[in-house]
Amino acid sequence: TSLRRFCRELPKAELHVHLEGCLEPGLLLDLARRNEVDVPWRTEDELRAAYRFRDLASFLDLYFAGCRVLRKRQDFYDLTTAHLDRAHQDGVAHTELFFGPQTFTEQGIALETVLDGVLDAIADAGERTGISASLLVSAHRHRGEDEAFALLDSVLPWADRVAGFGMGGAETGNPPEKFVRYYAELRRQGFRTCVHAGEEGPAAYVRQAFELLAPDRIDHGITILDDPGLVREIAAAGTPLTVCPVSNVRLRAVPSLREHPLPRMLDAGLNVSLHSDDPAYFESGLADTFATTAHDLGLDRPTLTALARNGVRSSFLPPTARHALL
Ligand code: ADE
Ligand code: ZN
Repeated sequence: TSLRRFCRELPKAELHVHLEGCLEPGLLLDLARRNEVDVPWRTEDELRAAYRFRDLASFLDLYFAGCRVLRKRQDFYDLTTAHLDRAHQDGVAHTELFFGPQTFTEQGIALETVLDGVLDAIADAGERTGISASLLVSAHRHRGEDEAFALLDSVLPWADRVAGFGMGGAETGNPPEKFVRYYAELRRQGFRTCVHAGEEGPAAYVRQAFELLAPDRIDHGITILDDPGLVREIAAAGTPLTVCPVSNVRLRAVPSLREHPLPRMLDAGLNVSLHSDDPAYFESGLADTFATTAHDLGLDRPTLTALARNGVRSSFLPPTARHALL
């Protein structure tokens, strides 16, 4: 079989994908028309031409601009449905979707509009295709800890349908140490946690995340190699690192896929798995992410299988459901 087909058929768990980053150009422009939101792009090609990022910050500007077209419950439903159908086609058996309600509640959209749209689509997609999906409520680190606490309080009515909590947004200048009390509270309430760290922030941020926040998973973590002692500690702890190589190249965290630290991370015994991050904006779903990463880094099929199994094992599924995918 071709590499692409092998990657598609591999049973995969997608653990690091932002629902807002799954908004494809066609749906974005449809929603802009539906909701009469002014956007600076008239065609899909014009919008795609804007997918040239200098860094994380320049990407986040476009990502949040895209979010402005999402207004109604049906919009969140349509976004989630379209993504889960593509993920199913891509051979994703289970996915944990980051979603950041603060973007929308700040614009006066009710939390129930947003969450019920997403959660209904997750339930319906599961019935239609069999894909298993759950929600990770994501706070924006650039908004600070008080707002994260307010987010946590506001989503508690949905707690039984939330698989865990994460944190993304602008990393530089917003180190994990700002969120020690928030993560302690999440753990006190029994929630699973992840945190973006070491995407463009230094290894010191990964160390802070690991030591001060004690997350169940670390998202990205690629700058960890600058601190060999930390590599040994995190490898020994088995803490999963959800790595997104295509994203790292698009956001210029690494110069090219061929220079990506993934092979060194594997050699160091870290628990790494592969993910897409923002498939619409980086123009690469999970199967393509596996295939292009394998091609450019020369990964063999046993290595791809190991990466996929790491993903399944690192999921927040109950043990029996995890086992069924291995
Ligand atoms: N939100 C969406 N994608 C992100 C990324 N790559 N880093 C931080 N926050 C994000
Ligand atoms: Zn991410």
